[in-house]
Amino acid sequence: MKPSFSIVGCGRVGTALAKFLSKVGYIPTGFASKSLSSAKRAAALIGSTNFTDVLWEATKKADIVFITTPDGAIEEVCKSIADKNGFNSDSIVLHCSGALTSEILLSAKTCGASIGSLHPLQSFASTTEYNINPFSGIVTSVEGDKKAVDAAKLIVEDLDSVCISIKTDTKILYHASAVVASNYLVTLLDLSLNLICQAGVPAKDAFKGLKPLIEGTLSNIENMSIPDALTGPIARGDVQTIENHLSEIGSKTPNLLPLYKTLGLHTIEIAKAKKTITDSTAKRLKELFGDSISQK
Ligand SMILES: NC(=O)c1ccc[n+]([C@@H]2O[C@H](COP(=O)([O-])OP(=O)(O)OC[C@H]3O[C@@H](n4cnc5c(N)ncnc54)[C@H](OP(=O)(O)O)[C@@H]3O)[C@@H](O)[C@H]2O)c1
Repeated sequence: MKPSFSIVGCGRVGTALAKFLSKVGYIPTGFASKSLSSAKRAAALIGSTNFTDVLWEATKKADIVFITTPDGAIEEVCKSIADKNGFNSDSIVLHCSGALTSEILLSAKTCGASIGSLHPLQSFASTTEYNINPFSGIVTSVEGDKKAVDAAKLIVEDLDSVCISIKTDTKILYHASAVVASNYLVTLLDLSLNLICQAGVPAKDAFKGLKPLIEGTLSNIENMSIPDALTGPIARGDVQTIENHLSEIGSKTPNLLPLYKTLGLHTIEIAKAKKTITDSTAKRLKELFGDSISQK
């Protein structure tokens, strides 16, 4: 028999967990949220009437408690339940934040519970529209107490997700990586789109023009190493082209120059790993990009 579970914080992630854990046989014992209406909606989605706005009433009987409130409320919510002795002593308390570690749940240990985190690398945008399992095929990271991690691994497997274990003290780097891959990709494309629009390409055509290049590069990264996927003037050691870029960006959109230079400096390191540029070309490029250390 699968364990029982309760959800505290019936928003996007809590609702998706409720729906897809129930589907694979986990037994819902309680739904709690700040608003009774959210708890009622999540419970109704799986035909349950066990909803409340009294948090510790929802958690008392559960083998696994998911605290899926916004990150800023997790610690306080956990403590408020622990203060009421609301976790059963064999239970496992998990949150789903990528940025926080399981240590934020320490108060649950006063009830004897084990603590962990289970972070799905997925974007959950809705509380209702999950006809397809959003956990299926994605990577979900877990960390925490051994007992909590063992249970979390089974949950991840049952959700048809791919599990990776993270050490508690490195989780913030894992989260920084996800931020770079998602948020900074947006920033990078903003830089690219700004430059192509400066070149006179209409904004409505700009992304369409760049998309095959982006997809081809992603495919290369997937199929080869990062150095092998790098093409272009830095990988070729084409100093003249870089000088032209710097001069043109500097005159037309100087506010974008520091970002272009910073990315260029890191790209030199990738070109060096690719072994397609000489040390003297790398040094010249570093001077152009303004690496004060290499200029000494
Ligand atoms: N959304 C994503 O794409 C995503 C992806 C991965 C991980 N996560 C993580 O998953 C967790 C939940 O995120 P989410 O996007 O599902 O948030 P959300 O949609 O905003 O849902 C949070 C829910 O918690 C309830 N809540 C807020 N404060 C509360 C409190 N003090 N006590 C009880 N319930 C409270 C909310 O209010 P009401 O009861 O008023 O509705 C809401 O229903 C976060 O740790 C987040 O970092 C999110």
